[in-house]
Amino acid sequence: MDDLLDKLKDFEVSALTKLESAHTKETLEALKIELLGRKGRLAEFSKSLGQAATESRPRLGAEINRLKALFKAGIEKSEAKLARPQKREYLDFNLPARAFFTGRKHPLLQTVDDIISIFHGMGFKVAHGPDVETEYYTFDALNTPEDHPSRDLTDTFYIKKGVCLRTHTSPVQIRTMESQQPPVRIIAPGRCYRSDAPDASHSPVFYQCEGLYVDEGVTFADMKGTITAFARALFGKAVKVRFRPHFFPFTEPSVEYDFSCVICAGKGCRVCKYNGWLEISGAGMVDPEVFRAVNYDSEKYTGFAWGMGVDRLTMLRYRIEDIRLLYDNDIRFIRQF
Ligand code: DAH
Repeated sequence: MDDLLDKLKDFEVSALTKLESAHTKETLEALKIELLGRKGRLAEFSKSLGQAATESRPRLGAEINRLKALFKAGIEKSEAKLARPQKREYLDFNLPARAFFTGRKHPLLQTVDDIISIFHGMGFKVAHGPDVETEYYTFDALNTPEDHPSRDLTDTFYIKKGVCLRTHTSPVQIRTMESQQPPVRIIAPGRCYRSDAPDASHSPVFYQCEGLYVDEGVTFADMKGTITAFARALFGKAVKVRFRPHFFPFTEPSVEYDFSCVICAGKGCRVCKYNGWLEISGAGMVDPEVFRAVNYDSEKYTGFAWGMGVDRLTMLRYRIEDIRLLYDNDIRFIRQF
């Protein structure tokens, strides 16, 4: 009898192991037949009861019944589980989070934003004009002679006769004055294009910011004060500004203006070529010929205008040594700002 009881025990263990690994309808069905079928393993055990000693039969019978109930319940449970729609576990909450990067503004546009906010504080509004401009707005209305070298094919990209990519943001001055009467206080940031071969300090596309202030009684001193206030707001109170006589067709008198070197504080370094000053751009009092083109009374109004190289300012702020980096759109570079 002990013999049969042992066999039943072993059988229980192996049957439960099989049950645990039966994951398909087919294997479950086969297992059901193997264990509980009319010619199945438990039926075999029942048959062999006849050979067991009479006094041990009730115990063995009870054991066989227990196993029958146990397997039946196990198989039914597995069948019910299979019948349920399968929910796949695809979320692993232990995985480390994926790194993601938030977008941010290009360093050039960060500088444009700062320029806008500084001049906004001085009462200037932002004005825009098209990148594809007419020769009239780019040159003629700005008093630039027919034979001026800046009009050459080697300097300017022409779309067709009379139409080009603007070589500076100054055309926005003309468009603004055509559409409104003084007082005018605008800045015009935007892209400009020149047929330059790219190198560390030249790019065929670049950014400028134009400024224009027209009203009664506007003076050269106002211009100096405005540009100096801007320089200090952008680079700190210690920055000095100097103005040198120059020539532009659209201003008279005209100047170029420099900031004391923001890298070496004017002591002399590689960036300022050891002279302590950084050339920023040009400015001047609006030429009466420009007022004539937009029908402003040059006896009544005066004004000043200036340009700024936004690339140069950005490179100085962030110590960028090659302008091409600003246009390559290499994400490894841009992410640093
Ligand atoms: N348009 C000039 C340039 O591209 C910069 C400039 C100089 C703008 C003097 C002005 C100005 O408005 O008055 O180099």
